[in-house]
Parts: sequence; C-alpha cells; structure tokens
Amino acid sequence: MEKTFSMIKPDGIQRGLVGEILQRFEKKGIKIAAMKFMMISRELAEKHYTAHKGKVFYDDLIRFITSSPVLAMVFEGEDVINIVRKLAGATSPEAALPGTVRGDYSLDVEYNLIHASDSKESAEREISLFFREEEIINYELITAKWVYPK
Ligand code: GTP
Ligand code: MG
Repeated sequence: MEKTFSMIKPDGIQRGLVGEILQRFEKKGIKIAAMKFMMISRELAEKHYTAHKGKVFYDDLIRFITSSPVLAMVFEGEDVINIVRKLAGATSPEAALPGTVRGDYSLDVEYNLIHASDSKESAEREISLFFREEEIINYELITAKWVYPK
C-alpha cells in the first residue's frame, strides 16, 4: 500500500489543532504508520525544503519550521499521497477550499498548518529523512476491510 509523509507544522501545534487535524485523517480511514513529535534541526529543514532553496520565502520558511515542535507522520492507504494533499488543501489561503485543513483553519500562505508530500518521489525521500525503517510500523488495521471492501 502507498505511503506518504505528512507533518503538523509549528502553528498547528501552538494553536492546539493536533487532535482536530488528526481526526480528519483517522475518520477518512487512513492508516497511521508512524508518528514523531520533534523539533526540526536547521540541517533537516534545509534537506526537507531543498526544492525551495533560493526562493524569496526560503529563509522565513526555515525559521518557521524550526521555531517550535512539529508532529511528523507517515500515512498509509490507497492513493494516499493524492488524498492527503487534497485533505490538506491548497497552499494559499484564498485558494484553500472549506472542508480542507488549510481552508478551514489557515489564513496565511506560510503558516498553513500542515505539510503533505506532493509525489511518490517526495514521499519516499521525506519519509526516509524523518524516519528510520524500524520506526515505520507494519500492522493490520482492523477497520481496513470496511474502508477498502475490495
Ligand atoms: P507543503 O505541503 O508544506 O510542501 O506545502 P505546499 O506543497 O502546498 O507548498 P510548497 O511546497 O510550494 O511550499 C512549501 C511551504 O512553503 C508552504 O507550505 C508554505 O509554508 C511556504 N510557502 C509557499 N509559498 C510561499 C510564499 O509565497 N510565501 C511564503 N512566505 N511562504 C510560502
Ligand atoms: Mg510542497
């Protein structure tokens, strides 16, 4: 089954939205494969956001993501990369639709609560940046047969 990397960013932790955000993924039927509450080092932040190096917002972004703890997560499910991106919502606040995490709770393009991998390649890269192999738990979720009937 496909895996994706997601993360509740510092603003989500500070605003007390962890439960609210996680509940959406759990209720959807998505399986949690790993979770880590942590501070991101500058080194890890630079690796994670290497694609944005040189952009005007890069320094702010590194400062933001290292400013307070995050909740790093691996989710698992069919087409989970796309689905988690959809549930997270568009990057900018005016484009993020109601019903998405960002559409419902964020008003800023940078402080947008959640990260979600944007492709299979990014998912693999980001999962291995944040988690060791043994930290990703392989287990049977009892609800799976009611979520994926076929
Ligand atoms: P992630 O899931 O966090 O990667 O968001 P995304 O894929 O929707 O956006 P993108 O990868 O383009 O940008 C990464 C992060 O940089 C965003 O989530 C924002 O926190 C921040 N960011 C993106 N664009 C801007 C911008 O124009 N200004 C500022 N200040 N921050 C931005
Ligand atoms: Mg991105």
